Amino acid sequence: MPRLTRDRISEIARKILTAAGTSEANAKVVADHLADANMTGHDSHGFIRIPQYVADIKAGRRDPRAVPVVASESRAVVRVDGHRSFGQVVAEFGTRQAIVRAQAHGVGLATMGSLGHVGRIGSYGEMAAREGFASIMFTGLLGDAMIVAPYGGSVPRMSTNPIAIAFPYKPDCPILLDFASSIGAEGKLRVYRARGHKLPDEWVLDSSGKPSRDPNDFYSGGAVLPLGGLHGGHKGYALAFVIAVLGGLVGEYGLPEPAPGEFTSGSTIIAIDVGALGSVDALKVKVGGLVEYVKDTPLMPGHSEILFPGEKEAKTRQQRLKEGVDIEPATWEQITALAAEYDLVLP
Ligand SMILES: NC(=O)c1ccc[n+]([C@@H]2O[C@H](COP(=O)([O-])OP(=O)(O)OC[C@H]3O[C@@H](n4cnc5c(N)ncnc54)[C@H](O)[C@@H]3O)[C@@H](O)[C@H]2O)c1
Repeated sequence: MPRLTRDRISEIARKILTAAGTSEANAKVVADHLADANMTGHDSHGFIRIPQYVADIKAGRRDPRAVPVVASESRAVVRVDGHRSFGQVVAEFGTRQAIVRAQAHGVGLATMGSLGHVGRIGSYGEMAAREGFASIMFTGLLGDAMIVAPYGGSVPRMSTNPIAIAFPYKPDCPILLDFASSIGAEGKLRVYRARGHKLPDEWVLDSSGKPSRDPNDFYSGGAVLPLGGLHGGHKGYALAFVIAVLGGLVGEYGLPEPAPGEFTSGSTIIAIDVGALGSVDALKVKVGGLVEYVKDTPLMPGHSEILFPGEKEAKTRQQRLKEGVDIEPATWEQITALAAEYDLVLP
């Protein structure tokens, strides 16, 4: 299993994407996002995605040189047309637009349509938090991406629609909620399958609608359960539904319909100027007080620490920036095959 540093992941991704026709500027943005997903422990949204993105380019689903534009704006609200560019390129642009509007109005909102897979959506919350803005982001997946069963259903009619909420706290470590509204992100199932592991619980239904812990059952015509699983899944399903509206439908609204059979998504990010709420330093002290209070909770057996949302990613990043990350052989084989296809010498 090769162990790769952040810079090596980013450089390999950049080289392959560029060889596949991506502009240098777009390749750098996407490569840095993939590397950062690996650094924060979300391998499901990192290096493993390179073959998928190359396949998107080859199939004409992605325009690898496209740049997003502001399609329309009204006061603090901006609508971004991604022109079928990479999700990471469009979402960085949209986040910047929301921040600029929040600087002017206190709150800014950007909706984004016609874009690819946005990856780990918490990274846009981190981007806003670094500049002193709280944020809420919704990504609703549409088209061919239906893999989640609505609560009570036995076949997919929803997607993993993620949500991220971030609040500035420490440098490089905001308070950060960032997860799929399904019981696990699809990429996580992909990693369990690639490593030959069972799922932690009954996360999926097989093709006959029976609950299962085998990730292969999902990939053989099954469905993923909503967050909350077999017994509390109504909450995850309701969350997925509103994210489909606020992210997917609102983001895509007014833009051309996706081609039949195409995966598509829409995202919405709301940036909030924390300084407009009061003293930022005083608020951070209050947040710190809440963190200390919950960390002081007596522990359940089997647990060693209470974390605040976002802390796990920050700790993993610190560790992986030093030690690198192991890439599973199945993914590495796909990457070396792509390198051979494009006649590249990998760094
Ligand atoms: N782009 C897409 O289409 C898409 C779709 C689904 C998911 N995703 C991404 O997949 C990634 C993984 O999603 P997931 O649902 O598997 O997330 P997950 O189950 O790993 O949960 C991550 C969240 O839980 C918090 N957390 C983890 N352990 C904690 C603890 N002990 N105490 C407190 N908080 C804790 C983390 O800080 C983070 O906010 C996310 O980055 C998400 O954005 C993307």
